[in-house]
Amino acid sequence: MDNRAIGVFDSGLGGLTVVREIIKYLPNEKIVYFGDTARFPYGTRSTIELRGFVFEIIDFLLSKDVKFIVIACNSASAAALEAAQQYYDIPIIGVIEPGARAAVQATRCRRIGVIGTQATISSGSYINAIKTLDAGVQIHPQACPDLADFVERNQITGPEVEDAVKGYLEPLARMGIDSLILGCTHYPLLSETISKVAGDGVKLISSAEETARELKESLTRKDSLRKEKTPPALEFISSGDENVFRKLGARFLGRKIGKVERVVFPLRERVVRVEKG
Ligand code: DGL
Repeated sequence: MDNRAIGVFDSGLGGLTVVREIIKYLPNEKIVYFGDTARFPYGTRSTIELRGFVFEIIDFLLSKDVKFIVIACNSASAAALEAAQQYYDIPIIGVIEPGARAAVQATRCRRIGVIGTQATISSGSYINAIKTLDAGVQIHPQACPDLADFVERNQITGPEVEDAVKGYLEPLARMGIDSLILGCTHYPLLSETISKVAGDGVKLISSAEETARELKESLTRKDSLRKEKTPPALEFISSGDENVFRKLGARFLGRKIGKVERVVFPLRERVVRVEKG
């Protein structure tokens, strides 16, 4: 039994799609969510810069006495999950491996498309994760540089978004994929448009649910589920505007958000230590 909270973070609001699933699978758990909205987007940043951010945020979440960390951001998972797992004692999971597993299980024709930010796609993390599970799967990755921006601006439908999605999915459609990984935690909010463009024959895979499932399994096996009877608390922290977070975040989370705390991070040269380590 462990009554402490689970720490979850993302570059912005996208990780709340993961929190939404965690609440479904683990309704009794406390969650501390950090959205780095002041430094959004992560998808255009370098691995070294993202590692610095990730270590800074994990240190911050540890100061909140969390028992488990979920990196609810593909770009951050791609850049820093391995380094963070090597450095910290606390269990840490990302969203890439769970999404890869779900896609490998779902595909019939063994042709999978992956869309994500530039950072995620160019890291090759999905290719590695999928190939570990099924070396014979064909993977068709596509970077979508501006899709997360649409979502963070609350522009989730309309001709502009649809045109952008069409442009990105066209090359994937030609490859005959039957499963498409939404390799960015912002994309589940674009599901309607993405599935309209992709067509009925393509199954959309969001890693949010798989990640929540894995978290539940891990906490159960570690005997670390929260047993306290008091209602679980959700704590929201943002590095940017609290009101924007509260308003837009409710859409991602599917429920109202009460108080949002604002934390402004000092940037530290943490990355030097990571690189040397
Ligand atoms: N939510 C982030 C991810 O899953 C992407 C958005 C960003 O570029 O910061 O990759």
